Amino acid sequence: NSQSMLEPIVDHVNVVAHRGASAYAPEHTKEAYEMAIRMQADFVEIDLHMTKDGQLVAIHDSSLKRTTNVEEVFPDRAPWLVKDFTLAEIKRLDAGSWFSEAKGKHSKKKYRGQKILTLDEAIRIIQKKNKKTALFIETKSPKTYPGMEEKLVKILERTGYLKKDRLILQSFSEESLRKLQPMIPEDVPLIQLYTPSMLKGKNLDEALAEAAEYAEGIGPDKSLVTPILMQEAHERMLTVQPYTVNTKDEMVEQLSLGVDGIITNNPDHAVELENRP
Ligand code: G3P
Ligand code: CA
Repeated sequence: NSQSMLEPIVDHVNVVAHRGASAYAPEHTKEAYEMAIRMQADFVEIDLHMTKDGQLVAIHDSSLKRTTNVEEVFPDRAPWLVKDFTLAEIKRLDAGSWFSEAKGKHSKKKYRGQKILTLDEAIRIIQKKNKKTALFIETKSPKTYPGMEEKLVKILERTGYLKKDRLILQSFSEESLRKLQPMIPEDVPLIQLYTPSMLKGKNLDEALAEAAEYAEGIGPDKSLVTPILMQEAHERMLTVQPYTVNTKDEMVEQLSLGVDGIITNNPDHAVELENRP
């Protein structure tokens, strides 16, 4: 078919497993991270929120509702925000069963009982599976969690990830990235993420000039990637790593525009499009 004729199309781009191999296993669980590494992702993406007792945990939403059974376990605690629960409470939740129910064909009983992970636990799991796999960490809702950047940097320092080639830090929040900048070594890249609405009505050149003050790259929604955006970003020495690019057709399109990385729920597809040894 036309896809296989196009393979492989690039030598190497950063393959970032979005929330782990989240097409195949419940996002941000041990299973999803380990699968991403088995699929040879270069980076595992981790979203961070903070518990009531100040622990950084790997979860995408600010609420526990979508990806756990919190409604059953704590029926009176709507809207079930991460910030209102202690780590001990969060550890009582099942973060795997929802996926089996939602995904049908990828469902496996083993996902039942998967736990929400602290950042420390997530790092340990990744490190144990492959020391070379790097982290692509996102600070979520930093305004809600004062002090999250300091805690993050401390953990990265302690675990040995505060190094070029081991780490990229990303956020939709400019404030969070500007806060991180003086706290990390200069060669650890920061990525400014953009939703389409963040750039709507804005002058692209001005927006990228601003990002270039503190970031080494941008992470636009894939719909924002155009030849003009690529040119302007690369002129400013900003890398471009779009999210969330899941089908091979989409990947081929993004790679032919010249992106530097692919943030994907399907890292296996991206790796297949590369000329890896
Ligand atoms: O890496 C970018 C991507 O993760 C941003 O979107 O909502 O999945 O965190 P989201
Ligand atoms: Ca994310």
